[in-house]
Amino acid sequence: MRMAVFISRSAHDTLEFAKAYASTLKAGDVVLLNGDMGAGKTVFAKGVALGLGIDDEVLSPTYAYMNDYGGRLYHYDCYRLSSGAQAEALGLADYFYGEGVCLVEWAENIADILPENCKIVTIQKLGENGRRIEY
Ligand SMILES: Nc1ncnc2c1ncn2[C@@H]1O[C@H](COP(=O)(O)OP(=O)(O)OP(=O)(O)O)[C@@H](O)[C@H]1O
Ligand SMILES: [Mg+2]
Repeated sequence: MRMAVFISRSAHDTLEFAKAYASTLKAGDVVLLNGDMGAGKTVFAKGVALGLGIDDEVLSPTYAYMNDYGGRLYHYDCYRLSSGAQAEALGLADYFYGEGVCLVEWAENIADILPENCKIVTIQKLGENGRRIEY
């Protein structure tokens, strides 16, 4: 698939870009948010939520593994999961096949249970505030 690149110069840029990106999403889409710690995956997720018209504050789901925004958006942080089986046992895989949009941070940790045809957003740090966002 052809990928496009957006260069972000601030967290606000990333938020605004993600807000616009949200309008390209369809019900049931699963988006893998790839990138190192502090790359801006959660900032991107906040922008997607805004773009989807979700008013709740989006916080990092690090301790919950997944936050459910009214069944419309599921925001995963799989950093502390070590296998797809573990995610499945926690019932986290079911939402991949539902109507909500799924955003998944640290998806590589559950690679064996990801659905086919996931969308991929890769965020790379370019210095302190610059980010290269491939989508
Ligand atoms: N251009 C930018 N885009 C996004 N975030 C930026 C940018 N410039 C600076 N930042 C800062 O980088 C940090 C990104 O944090 P965020 O929690 O989104 O990262 P993350 O990729 O979710 O990390 P983790 O893997 O730990 O969950 C924030 O403090 C944000 O303000
Ligand atoms: Mg995060």
